[in-house]
Amino acid sequence: MTKRVTVKTIQKFKDENEKFSVLTAYDYSTAKYLDEAGIDIILIGDSLAMVALGYETTHSIGMNEMSIFTKAVAKGAERAMVVTDMPFLSYHTDIPTAVKNCGEMVKCGANAVKIEGFSEYILNVIKRLVETGIPVMGHLGFTPQFINTLGGYKIQGKTKDTAEEILRQAKELEKAGVFSIVLEMVPQDSAKYITQNLTVPTISCGAGKYCDAQVLVSDDVFGKFSDFKPKFARKYGDMKSLIYNCAKQFNDDVKSGKFPSDDEIF
Ligand code: KIV
Repeated sequence: MTKRVTVKTIQKFKDENEKFSVLTAYDYSTAKYLDEAGIDIILIGDSLAMVALGYETTHSIGMNEMSIFTKAVAKGAERAMVVTDMPFLSYHTDIPTAVKNCGEMVKCGANAVKIEGFSEYILNVIKRLVETGIPVMGHLGFTPQFINTLGGYKIQGKTKDTAEEILRQAKELEKAGVFSIVLEMVPQDSAKYITQNLTVPTISCGAGKYCDAQVLVSDDVFGKFSDFKPKFARKYGDMKSLIYNCAKQFNDDVKSGKFPSDDEIF
């Protein structure tokens, strides 16, 4: 049986200076291929609201949808750690609700959850989750669920003072028990400074090469989502053209009578 990546493996990566990889997935077969490719953490990001469901922001996705996608991904991932992004309002109202909702994701097959932001309340949520046996990934810098208060897609931690503030928050998250922290849209030098001053690994989402890991949205990596492309994302394939060409050929073959052939009938 394949050995699962756990919070211990993730910490070992940091301690031994070994980089690790994180990609998002929202369905069974994608999770399976990412797992086979050696991706260490598969994140059911709430980005799925935008890239898979076509919503404008991540706010519209709820527990029901995240549960369905978590179950699908968990079935496909054998080695990778499966982390579910907790949707907007699922952990913000009170600690018992947060524990219940995060626990639901574990029941759906998640090995850990990710929660965005920083406050005294969030620290208490993290402590309670860890006490319950639910590992937590933190998320600082640009936090999409706060887009309305942050005033749009804005780089965070650009000045010495704001970088210090992110480091302060990261240290508090670390004390509360997170096993890793996503740093989103933070300048590389600030992310380097934050990473060097933490014990837990940082995961860069547009925060440069000095973080301990890198995360991207798989639809950006595959070249599938084309509404916009973040500056920090790298496109490794052209799935949009692949899907278009396959669909077009199928359409042509059906209409010209080339499909099905004699080999494709009973
Ligand atoms: O929702 C998401 O996919 C994310 C990552 C890209 C970090 O939060």
